[in-house]
Amino acid sequence: MPAPLRLGVNIDHVATLRNARGGFYPDPVRAAHDAIMAGADGITAHLREDRRHIRDEDIERLKRQILTPLNFEMAATDEMVAIACRVRPHAACLVPEKREERTTEGGLDLAANPERLGSVIARLKEAGIRVSLFVEPEPAVMDAAHRLGAPVVELHTGSYAEAFLADDQARTDAELDRIRRAAAHGAAIGLEIHAGHGLTEQNVGPVAAIPQIVELNIGHALIGAAIFVGLGDAIRAMLSAMEAGRAAAPQAR
Ligand code: PXP
Repeated sequence: MPAPLRLGVNIDHVATLRNARGGFYPDPVRAAHDAIMAGADGITAHLREDRRHIRDEDIERLKRQILTPLNFEMAATDEMVAIACRVRPHAACLVPEKREERTTEGGLDLAANPERLGSVIARLKEAGIRVSLFVEPEPAVMDAAHRLGAPVVELHTGSYAEAFLADDQARTDAELDRIRRAAAHGAAIGLEIHAGHGLTEQNVGPVAAIPQIVELNIGHALIGAAIFVGLGDAIRAMLSAMEAGRAAAPQAR
């Protein structure tokens, strides 16, 4: 049997909807409660520099009100490190952030400023926070993440999701293969492997089948589906699709 596969539900876009009209509704913390009731293993929220969705007080309330592990997505800036060290979420996922992007495009560039990234990772670890790096699925990147002292990587599945959406079978297979090779190599050198971005009920199966992956972080597809079927049903359907995919997983080596 492969290791169990956890689902982290990203609630950013509940806050996007709230912020469209100002005020307090819909409340991302209520969404977090509902997600946990429906079977989510963790809650993920990204406090962006421009606060376009999640706000500081959301993070504080999530930490106070939610017992399920909170995964704080953040850029590797001094401001975010200070917030993380004060709030002390269960986990922090370091992501690249550009103001002009619609969502997180591409993984972290680990070669750009390794000293700075290494020091951010060390400060978060010292605060007792489990650190993951959101990275491209490449074996060399797994080595770099390991050298920087990160215990966890989250493999960026965006290119796979794009190929799947374009109905390009050859590219989808190639992207899946990249994810498989990165996951196998990362696990072999001792990293815990997560994955996320662009995953949907339709495309999640083959990713869930990769035995070294132990956590998926999913947001947009779930919050989108929630409009039609409710958040609980959307999460239960995703969990079923993950379980069906996982059942096809070979043993992790
Ligand atoms: N993981 C990370 C690191 C992300 O930045 C995002 C997007 O915020 C996700 C997972 C979830 O992606 P999606 O919303 O496409 O499911």
